[in-house]
Amino acid sequence: TPDPYTSIRTEVPVPGVGLIRLERPKALNALNQAVQAEVLAAASAFDTDPEIGAIVVTGSERAFAAGADIAEMAALDYSDTERLFDGWDRLAQLGTPLVAAVSGYALGGGCELAMLCDVLIAADTAVFGQPEINLGILPGIGGSQRLAHAVGKAKAMDLVLTGRTMDVHEAERAGLVSRIVPATDLLDEAVAVAATIASKSKPAVLAAKQAVNRAFETGLTEGVRFERALFRGRFATMDRAEGMAAFLEKREPRFTDR
Ligand code: HXC
Repeated sequence: TPDPYTSIRTEVPVPGVGLIRLERPKALNALNQAVQAEVLAAASAFDTDPEIGAIVVTGSERAFAAGADIAEMAALDYSDTERLFDGWDRLAQLGTPLVAAVSGYALGGGCELAMLCDVLIAADTAVFGQPEINLGILPGIGGSQRLAHAVGKAKAMDLVLTGRTMDVHEAERAGLVSRIVPATDLLDEAVAVAATIASKSKPAVLAAKQAVNRAFETGLTEGVRFERALFRGRFATMDRAEGMAAFLEKREPRFTDR
């Protein structure tokens, strides 16, 4: 069945992996309201599909996304902005891991979309930045927070206050990027990473994602307490028994997500 979408395309490139491609080539994949709604709808559908264990989000070779759609934003007034980015917030709350595959520009909302994903695979052509300051605004999809967490205050302030961009090597040194790969291999690598995640026990993956994310919400003692409760919870699952039995029997585990 063809996609019901106008600004994205979805597919299942390998079993277990949902792929979402942003597709507004004439606007360098600028994130307008249609893209936001469609990405959330597609990701939510993958999230509730028991066959899907990880989701890849990608753009084009030239641009992951060059930001929120400036033409659309230019027409908004204060009251229009109240729930403007709720869809992106909901995307960040999904249980299924999101793998960003970034080539070319990831600017403004594009950088923020990449950062709200769980794993960020970048092509050697990727360029990151939060240039909102040049428009008289600031990041609005969590960029000031996630960038500060990812790269620290020194670089976050530098990027957010000057609006300059950074290349993929600076981004990796700063801790923004999980892996750099040659541009020609980007999608294959990102899909392979997603397939690896999808091969694991789904409830264990969900718990692991929640545990790491808790590090950004709370202090060490509370975070470790949260981790410990999730860890102990695994001992109520069949996948835990299967994973350990498979290791001891020197065979591959057959997880059932139970
Ligand atoms: C709408 C955009 C766009 C955007 C590019 N385009 N970025 N349209 N919103 N964010 C459009 C251009 O208008 C142009 O359309 C076409 O895409 C190609 O872009 P060019 O500028 O011609 O390409 P190039 O010269 O190669 O420059 C690429 C670029 C530049 C450096 C990425 O496009 C750029 O600076 N874009 C804006 C980046 C930005 O400021 N992003 C932050 C947005 S604010 P036409 O029709 O002329 O061919 C943001 C806020 C987040 O993201 C949420 C908090 C509020």
